[in-house]
Amino acid sequence: MAFLAAACGSSSSGSGSSGGSAGGGSKSVEVFTWWADGGEKAGLDGLVGVFNTACTGDKFVNGAVAGGAGANAKQVLASRLQQGDPPDTFQAHAGAELSDYINAGQIEDLSAEYKEWGLDTAFPKGLLDNISVGGKIYSVPANIHRANVLWSNKTVVSGAGITTAPTTMADFLADLDKLKAKGVQTPLALGKDWTQEMLFEAVLISDLGPAQFTGLWNGTTDWKGAAVTQGINDYKKLLSYTNSDRDTYDWTDAEKLIMEGKAGYQLMGDWEAADLDTKGFKDYGYQVFPGNGNTYQWLADSFVLPKGAKNADGTKCWLKTVGSADGQKAFNTKKGSIPARTDASPADYPAYQQAAMADWKVDTAVPSCPHGSACSQGWQGAVASAQGKFSTDQNVSALQSSLAAAAAQFAPKK
Ligand code: BGC
Repeated sequence: MAFLAAACGSSSSGSGSSGGSAGGGSKSVEVFTWWADGGEKAGLDGLVGVFNTACTGDKFVNGAVAGGAGANAKQVLASRLQQGDPPDTFQAHAGAELSDYINAGQIEDLSAEYKEWGLDTAFPKGLLDNISVGGKIYSVPANIHRANVLWSNKTVVSGAGITTAPTTMADFLADLDKLKAKGVQTPLALGKDWTQEMLFEAVLISDLGPAQFTGLWNGTTDWKGAAVTQGINDYKKLLSYTNSDRDTYDWTDAEKLIMEGKAGYQLMGDWEAADLDTKGFKDYGYQVFPGNGNTYQWLADSFVLPKGAKNADGTKCWLKTVGSADGQKAFNTKKGSIPARTDASPADYPAYQQAAMADWKVDTAVPSCPHGSACSQGWQGAVASAQGKFSTDQNVSALQSSLAAAAAQFAPKK
């Protein structure tokens, strides 16, 4: 920590407190995220605690815009970038989504800082590839999240006579029927567009397997194929077990149904672990989505230095904090994710993350579209609107055609 403080001080010399804005006053660093509440806010607070110690001349300013998966934040951010008014730093998903900002020339190359801070060897190579373009590195990853996790209310599930975790789609449908027969209002809790995409992707992983699923995003798997049709039909079946007001729900509203014992299951990323913990709900179970086997659907939050940031030196101190061992621990122990750095000690983490760290080492990684590791923001928007329409009309061939058209427009050309 002392090392971090000293290093941050020197890197901000000339503008942060160490270098002396007049009168030794602090300079603000506006950190733009969508982590406004619950476990997400708890994770951010952990990071801010380390930042406050390490970057004493700089003041954290919370620029969070509420709304799961950045549903609102990304729009606000896009218009600020458009108007030349970037925050000092913002949250961006590693992978195709980050490439959008790189290709638009909106963020700075951090390769020199990576060397200076020793980050070039701190992260796994696969992750570095996802935040690099043309040999230059553009962001500092804070974590690795897992998307394909099925959460449950243990009492509700066992009350319906479900004693073993479902491992296939057929088992899962049978269990949902048991919940229905028991009179559980919502066997499977669901929210709006991006949460529906997550559920659909989990089904596709089961029906296509990890290699073909990944191929959907790199142009090698045909969206018009029979396996995708099967996936849409399975997903449609699952929709019949969900709450009919799903299109008005954020992920936390669906999570509430689990907490209140009104729902048995919910598919959601592992930010749910942290959120349930923060809300004091202990009676939850978790498992990989049925049929996903050893597939780890990953995504990573990372932070960037936008071109034109008002306090670039302060932002660098924030980025250094994000990449540091102390920062990653303070953040990830509270956020439900696992550290992106490879040198963390599992014993420092809650039980869920310990299990996730073990899986991450051996599982097959596949990306996520709604969380940017698989697809660009344009593609995300096209999928979200197709999925939203399907929630109402449930027209299988219309969804498949729209998804194929989106891929034809946005997939990387082979
Ligand atoms: C982010 C997570 C966040 C989740 C729900 C994802 O896109 O990567 O950090 O917890 O959205 O808001």
